[in-house]
Amino acid sequence: EEIPWSAEMATKGGYPHFMLKEIYEQPESLATTVAGLEWPLLETAANTLLSARNVYIVGAGSSLHAGLAFLQLLLRIKVTPVPIVASEYATYEQLFDKGDVAVAISQSGETIDTIKAVRTMREKGVRVLAVTNVVGSTISRESDAVIYTRAGPEIGVAATKTFTTQVATLSALYVAALKTLGYDTAPMEREIKALPDLVRKTLENTAGAAKDLAKRLKNKPSAYYLGRGAALPVAMEGALKLKEVAYIHAEAYPAGESKHGPIALVEEGFPVLFVFSDPNTREKTLSNVAEMKARGAYTIGTVPMKSDIAKRLDYAIEVPELGELTAPILHIVPLQLLAYFTAVEKGYDPDKPRNLAKTVTVE
Ligand code: G6P
Repeated sequence: EEIPWSAEMATKGGYPHFMLKEIYEQPESLATTVAGLEWPLLETAANTLLSARNVYIVGAGSSLHAGLAFLQLLLRIKVTPVPIVASEYATYEQLFDKGDVAVAISQSGETIDTIKAVRTMREKGVRVLAVTNVVGSTISRESDAVIYTRAGPEIGVAATKTFTTQVATLSALYVAALKTLGYDTAPMEREIKALPDLVRKTLENTAGAAKDLAKRLKNKPSAYYLGRGAALPVAMEGALKLKEVAYIHAEAYPAGESKHGPIALVEEGFPVLFVFSDPNTREKTLSNVAEMKARGAYTIGTVPMKSDIAKRLDYAIEVPELGELTAPILHIVPLQLLAYFTAVEKGYDPDKPRNLAKTVTVE
C-alpha cells in the first residue's frame, strides 16, 4: 500500500496549512526571540530614541501594526512618534533631518516601500533602527542598527509569528527605555519572559471558540473590529487577518469613532468584534458595546479571563493575559485563529490568499 507523502506535507509538520503551523509555533518563536534579546543593544537604541528630535515609525501591513502597538508604549514615556505608512513616506519627507531617529519594521526586510523610506531618511541624516526577521536582508544592510526578531522562516502569506515577535521585541525596547529612565523594570521583564507560556495557554484556551465563531462568521459579508488605545492596533491586525485569508470585509475602527459613520451599517446580526486588551479603555469600550447591541449587532469580544466583560457580549473569547505588555500579543492569537478557521470553513487556502504576496517588491 502506498503512503501518500509530499515534501510539503513533511515541512508542514502534520499541520494542514503553514498558517496554522506558524500560529502554533508562536510559543517557540517568542521563546527564541526573548532569549535572543540583546539588552545592551536595546538600551543603546532606547537612548537614541529618547534623545531624538523626531521619532518615526515606519512599516507596511502587519509590520505597521506592530509599530502602532509600539507607538502606544512610547507615548507613555512622552516620546511622540510620527507613524508613517511606508508607501506614504514622501508626504513626510520635508520633516526628515539630522537628529531624527526612525524605527523601520519589516519582517522580510525587502518590502520596497519600506526600503525606499529607509533610503530617503538616511540621505537626510535620519538614524534608522531596523527591526527585521531576516539576517542580511536589504533593510538590515542599509540601516544604522538592527534588532532581529527570531521567529524563524514564515511561509504563510499572512504574517502571524513574525507579528507577535515584532511586538515582543518592540516591547523589550520600551522596557529598555524605561530602564534607561531609571524605572524598576523587573515586573515587565518577567511579563516578557512569561510570553511563551501565556501564548501556549491562549492557544489552548481559545482555539475551540475561534473555530466555533468561524462557523458563525463565514456567511457574513462584513465585520467591524473595534478597540481603543492600545487595543486599536490589535483590532487593526485582527481585521487585516480576516480580510487577507477569509475575504470578509473587515474594518478596524477606533471604537469611539465608530459612531461617526460605521454604525450606520449596523443592523440585526452585523458582527462587531471588540478587543479588550487595554485595561485603561475598558469602560469606554463597554459603552460602545451597548450602543452596537442596541442596533442589533452581534457583539463579539476578546476579553481578559475572569473579568465580567464576557457577560456583556454575545460571544466572548477569554484570554489569559498577565499585564499591559503581554495583552496585545495574547489578544491577537484568537483573532489569527479566527481568520484561519473562517478561511478554511469557506474553502479557501489560507496559505495562498488571492492577489497577495508574501513580500511586496513593487511600489
Ligand atoms: C505583505 C504581506 C504582509 C506583511 C507586509 C509587510 O503585504 O502579505 O503579511 O505584513 O507585506 O511585509 P514586511 O516583510 O515588510 O513585514
